[in-house]
Formats: sequence, structure tokens, C-alpha cells
Amino acid sequence: MKLITLNALEPGKKLGRPIYNEKGTLLLGAGVAVSARYIRRLKEMGYSSVYVHEKGYEDIEVNDVISDKTRMEAVLTISETFDSVRESGTKSEKVALDRKMVSSVADKIVDDLISAGDQIMDLIDLKSFDNYTFMHCVNVSVLTVMTAVNVGKFTTLELRDIAIAALLLDIGKAHIPIEIVQKKGRLSPDEFARMKKHTSIGYEILLHKSGMKPLIASVALQHHEYYDGSGYLNALAGEKIHIWSRYIALADVYDSLTSDRSYKRRLPPLVGLEYLKLGRGTHFDPKCLDYFINNIAPYPAASTVLLNTGETAVVVANDTQKIDRPLVRILTTPDGKEIKKPYEIDLAKETEITIQSVQV
Ligand SMILES: [Fe+2]
Repeated sequence: MKLITLNALEPGKKLGRPIYNEKGTLLLGAGVAVSARYIRRLKEMGYSSVYVHEKGYEDIEVNDVISDKTRMEAVLTISETFDSVRESGTKSEKVALDRKMVSSVADKIVDDLISAGDQIMDLIDLKSFDNYTFMHCVNVSVLTVMTAVNVGKFTTLELRDIAIAALLLDIGKAHIPIEIVQKKGRLSPDEFARMKKHTSIGYEILLHKSGMKPLIASVALQHHEYYDGSGYLNALAGEKIHIWSRYIALADVYDSLTSDRSYKRRLPPLVGLEYLKLGRGTHFDPKCLDYFINNIAPYPAASTVLLNTGETAVVVANDTQKIDRPLVRILTTPDGKEIKKPYEIDLAKETEITIQSVQV
């Protein structure tokens, strides 16, 4: 498999990963040869890059940390949950939030991650402004639970509650006017002020209108707080922000940075991780940050990178032990000529060779 920009996608190329809509329904399956019409549709959806199958890249695997089935079931569940909470209206004392359905899918996320053991995120969760909202909630849940499993201090029951809390972190948006939530482009100051209230609205929905545990509700309230007190809604700082929210804030920011949005292109994981590190001790709890970045491959498999030798290479595989030193396959000479017989270099061993930038 190879990650390419959408501009490099030509009719006839086969997709490496499936494309889903905002409800988790399959639009284009892995292995489907794209037509010019499909390419146009992917552009309309806002994708900037896709995984494809390509000759010479057959052995490069891109593995998710949970099953596609679990991921898409979670997207559908969250999408339906948003719909039913929205339909309940803002004035009613109770909302129709199916707690059983949410906790059942949260259990599946946790079970997938626990059964897989020590994992790193070696995949870019490609999504677009079209299907961002619910896929984002699911990926925040996956990234947070994966980190929490690796921290090793949380019980399975806690992991399940963390998964639920992350899935529902933005549920307050169901009661924010849809034209603000779905606005393509940056929000005006007034709109942003309203949007910020999704935290307190979410807390109300979860705690008082659907009977969720207070800790789960507190994540909806606190997930935009920053470690130094510069976040919202209540400018909480340090340990006043619950530990779950400190982890979830990292996953929320990271996934947003590395996703295509209506107003910006996705950043490669390396750049997203650098951004998080800049917030060490200010926006983010240093300990939580260290655990979080430990689990994400800065150069995921199938990405194309430029080496300090001037050669370009594709990332073949990552190892949990040396997460920033992948195995790479050299594709071109320093002057850009294609190499007839590509060969591999293990950057964990060849320490003088460094990655200068990520091209896709
Ligand atoms: Fe949020």
C-alpha cells in the first residue's frame, strides 16, 4: 500500500483502505479501482490524500489498531446518538440517549485494543469535512484508550468509561445550531463563543438528561481545558482537570490537526506530534503527553519521506521500540532518478541517516 495525494490519484488505481460516509456506511471498498467520477467525489468530500494499492508496494501493510467493523459500528452509533439527542430538543428534561448502545460499542473498542496488546498507531485515520464529526469522536476514543492501555494503570472498567467519555465528548454540539456546527470555514467570534458552550451543554446532557456517570459527564465539560489554565470553559488548571480529560484533550487536538477540515489540509503525524510537544507543560500535562506521543508513529507505514542523503523513501514498517526510526525502502537517487531495484534501510541501525521531511 502507498499513501498518495489526491492530485496524484489517477483513474484505475485501486484504493488501499475503504472510504465511509458520515454514518459509517461503506462508499468505496478497499480494492475498488477508482473512476474519474469517484476521484471527483473524493475531492468534493474534502480528502487530500488516500491509501492505494500499487505495484512494488504490495508488502507494505497499514494496520488499524481496532477492526474496521468495530470502528464503523462506533461511527454509526455516535451518528445515531447525535441524531436522537438533537431530536429530543434542547428544552426537554431527558434526552433519548441509548446508554446501552454506546457502552456496547465502547466495550468493543476496549476489547479490540486489549486483545491486541502493546500497539502503536501506524495508520492515518483519513477523513474529510464530510465525515469528520463522528469519525473524529471515534478516533479520539481509540487514541485515548490505546494510550490508557499502554499506561497500564487503568482498570478495564475505567477503560470502558474512558472510551464512552471520549465517544461522547462533543455530544453538546447536538444542541448547537447546525449552521454553526457544520459551517465550512472558520467561525466568527460570536459563533465561536456559542460553540464553546458545547462543553457545558454536553455536561448537562450526560449528567442530568441521560443519567451518565459524573466522571463521564466531566469529560464533556473539561476536554477543552488546558494544563496551564488557558483553556475553556472554566479555565481549570493542572490536576483540577481530571486525568481522563487531560488524555482526551491530547487525542482531540491531535486528531483534529491530522484530519482534513473545510478550512485546512491535514498535517502529517510528525507535524501534529511536534505541535503537541510545543504545548508540553502549557496546554498539556507533560506526563500524559509523554505517554500519548509514545504510541503514535511519526512516520506511519506507506508514507513517503525525504532523507538527509537527498533520497526519497517509503516507510515499510515501524517498530514499537524505536518509533521514530522506521524501516524504509529507497525509491529515488538524490537527484530524483527512480531506482530500478529499490532496497531497504533500517534507520534503527543506520543512525547517521535521518528523515528530513514527510512528503505525503
Ligand atoms: Fe469539543
